[in-house]
Amino acid sequence: RFEKIWLVFGIGSLVVFMLILGYGAFWKGTHPQSHGQIIDPNNVEAYDAFKPENLGVNKVDDKRYVINVVASAFNYDFGTDKDGNAVKTIRIPKGSNVLFQVTSPDVVHGFNIAGTNVNMMIEPGYVSKMETVLNNPGEYTIVCNEYCGVGHHLMFGTLEVY
Ligand code: CUA
Repeated sequence: RFEKIWLVFGIGSLVVFMLILGYGAFWKGTHPQSHGQIIDPNNVEAYDAFKPENLGVNKVDDKRYVINVVASAFNYDFGTDKDGNAVKTIRIPKGSNVLFQVTSPDVVHGFNIAGTNVNMMIEPGYVSKMETVLNNPGEYTIVCNEYCGVGHHLMFGTLEVY
């Protein structure tokens, strides 16, 4: 009889343990880090914001902009201009509300707009988002502040507030 009780207790403990494990995995799976939405790093274009035609500055209305960027070793991709050349400087009017959406297809990068409060870690598989208002006109350098490889120090972009 005692064996039976121990057997039931053992199996019961195992079930509880597995439920906790399963719940933990479920919780992690459905609650990614607060800054991000999980996407496939090998196919960032499947996510609307990172389709080539949506990269760079998107005007929502006179006061609102969305800027989509793919950060990869060792470049910030702001899309291409009318002539098909890579955009190197993104421009927004001062005082507008800007939502930055940035992802990485390879390794961890940084997205720090020097002299502003915009400073994000960009992780493959996640969309880092930050909304801000930039009131001071000027040229700002966007720098990668996470070591990402031999070209890390060459990784920068320019934001012009006019
Ligand atoms: Cu990208 Cu350092």
